[in-house]
Amino acid sequence: MTLYSTLLRPLLFRPDAETVHRAAMSFGAAAGFAGGALRSLTVVDDARLATTVAGLAFPSPVGLAAGFDKNGEAVDALAGLGFGFIEIGSVSAFASAGNPRPRLFRLPDDRAIAVAYGVPNDGAEIVAARLARVRLPVPLGINIVKTNFGAGAPPETDDAIVAEYMQAARALAPRADYLMFNLSCPNTVDGRDFFADRGRLDAWLAALSATPLPCPVFLKVSPLGGIAAIEQLLEAAAPHACIRGFMFNLPSAKPEGAMRTPRCVWQAMPGAVSGPPAAPLLDECLRECYRRMDRKRYVLFASGGVSSGADAYAKIRMGASLVALYTALIYDGPLVVRRMTRELAALLARDGFNSVADAVGIDNR
Ligand SMILES: Cc1cc2nc3c(=O)[nH]c(=O)nc-3n(C[C@H](O)[C@H](O)[C@H](O)COP(=O)(O)O)c2cc1C
Repeated sequence: MTLYSTLLRPLLFRPDAETVHRAAMSFGAAAGFAGGALRSLTVVDDARLATTVAGLAFPSPVGLAAGFDKNGEAVDALAGLGFGFIEIGSVSAFASAGNPRPRLFRLPDDRAIAVAYGVPNDGAEIVAARLARVRLPVPLGINIVKTNFGAGAPPETDDAIVAEYMQAARALAPRADYLMFNLSCPNTVDGRDFFADRGRLDAWLAALSATPLPCPVFLKVSPLGGIAAIEQLLEAAAPHACIRGFMFNLPSAKPEGAMRTPRCVWQAMPGAVSGPPAAPLLDECLRECYRRMDRKRYVLFASGGVSSGADAYAKIRMGASLVALYTALIYDGPLVVRRMTRELAALLARDGFNSVADAVGIDNR
C-alpha cells in the first residue's frame, strides 16, 4: 500500500484514461525545471546498475518505454523519476491525430491497459525542434513509426512508406542517442502487416543502410510469427551493420488466455493489451531471440508487465540488456522507478554480480 495506490490512483482512475494521460503530460512539461533536483532524490547510486549498450552509457537498465511521452514534451521531468533511459514517441514523419477516441482503457483486474491510440504525434519536425535544447542525464531514445493517416486515407506505395521512415529518421537522429524503429505498431493497418513480408523488410533495411545516421539503431518488431519470424528477422538484419538490437512490441490480438478481466469487459475495447497479460508472449520472444542472435553484435530491450525489480531481473536473466516499462507507472505511480531500481540492485548484489551486464542471459544459455 502506498500513498499513490490508496489516495491518488482512485482519483486519477475516475476520469477517462486519455484525459488523465494528457494532464500528466502537461504537468510533466511544466515541472521540467525540477527534473534535476528530483533526480538527485530518486536515482539509485549503485555501480552494479551501470551498463554500456551499443556504445551508450546507461546509469541503470530500467527505462521508460515508448508511448508515454509521445512528443518529447516532458523528458526532463521523466528523467527526474530515476529512469536509466527515456524513449519518446512513436514519432512519424508527418503529424497524426491517431485513431478516433475512445482509444485508451484501463483493465484494473489485470493491472493492464488496452491501447488503440494509433500513434498520434506532432510529427518529426516539431518534435525535433522541441528537443533541440534538451540535455538529459540519461540516453534519449526516439521511437519512429510510419504516419497513421487514418482509416479512410488512400493506400501508399511501398516506396512511399520506406521513404517516410527515412525522412523521420533524418529529422530526429541528431536529437537522439538511439533510434528505435517501430516496425510493428499493433494499432495501425500498415504497422501490423507490412514488415511480415520479407521483400518489404529487405527493401526497408536497404534504405536504412543507405541513410547515414549518427546513432545506434534498434528495431521494435511484432511478437507474432513465432520462431520463423525471429529467424527471418535475424537473417534479414545480418548484412546491415547499423542495427544493434531488437525489442518486441505488444501483439495486436488480445492475450485472452493470460487475462483475468472477463471477455465481456474487453471484447468491445479496440487495441492491444499492455502490462502483465503481455508478458508471457514477449518473454517467449525474448528467450527465443536471445538464443539465436549474435550476442557480440546485438542486444535486446525487454518490456511487458515489469513492475518490480524481480520482474526486471527475470527479463535480464532471460537475455535483456535493457528493460522498459510503461503500465507500472500508471498502476504503481512515479515512485515505482526508484523502488524497482533499488530492488534490482539488491538482487544483483545477492547473486554476486558486479555488473548488470554479467547477469544478461544467464538463465538462457
Ligand atoms: C498507452 C500505450 C501507448 C503505447 N504507445 C507506443 C508507441 O507509440 N510506440 C511503441 O513502440 N510502443 C508503444 N507502447 C508499447 C510500450 O512501449 C511497451 O512496449 C508495452 O506497453 C509493454 O510494456 P508495459 O507492460 O510496461 O506497458 C504503448 C503502450 C501503451 C500502454
